[in-house]
Amino acid sequence: MTIKILGIIGSVRPLSRTGAMVRLVNWNLKERGVESSTWSLRERPLPIMDPDLRAHPERITDPNVREFMAQAALADGFVLGTPVFHWSFSGVLKNAIDHLSSEVLSQKAFGLLSHGGRQSTQPLADLANVVEGCGGIVIPTRIATDDSHLDLDAEGRVTGMRDRDLADRIDRFCGDLIRFAAIGYALRLDAA
Ligand SMILES: Cc1cc2nc3c(=O)[nH]c(=O)nc-3n(C[C@H](O)[C@H](O)[C@H](O)COP(=O)(O)O)c2cc1C
Repeated sequence: MTIKILGIIGSVRPLSRTGAMVRLVNWNLKERGVESSTWSLRERPLPIMDPDLRAHPERITDPNVREFMAQAALADGFVLGTPVFHWSFSGVLKNAIDHLSSEVLSQKAFGLLSHGGRQSTQPLADLANVVEGCGGIVIPTRIATDDSHLDLDAEGRVTGMRDRDLADRIDRFCGDLIRFAAIGYALRLDAA
């Protein structure tokens, strides 16, 4: 099987550092043969989730919502990337998660990463709580960075890592994600 991973960039800033990190992980996953893609909530914004529409997905007409739901349904795992906002993860990321049902999220692997003004694991703990509540499998390796860890070019791409351990951590993160996505796939097959 080919593992499918959807990376979600939970920042709408044009040169988002969270986005740079999600894209770096995406590249690493592709190198390992994963069918990996990213969803930028700046480039493809999602409207505020409407519970009445969510209860009737056949009535959803917004093309971004329809495409996002379709990609998420096919994914075996997710990378959730968030900026640190007021000690937690971003509202746009929560809104994106709220568009998805527990059926789509459960028994799938989730890699969590945050980028803040200051390095913080608090958004990751909060995200883990949400993901596990929806039946998702949070991978053990998590990534929390701030500007002191990264060098970026004018287009906002990561050109270097100032933290020696970060490259190793990204490798472990990608390895975990692939392993846990495969475990989730087997669990879903078993339940079918
Ligand atoms: C509304 C808001 C709240 C923020 N709260 C925090 C915070 O609690 N802790 C922190 O370290 N940085 C905080 N920041 C700074 C961002 O985490 C930082 O600018 C980060 O680089 C944004 O990620 P991005 O480049 O992906 O947009 C906040 C920024 C904004 C706009």
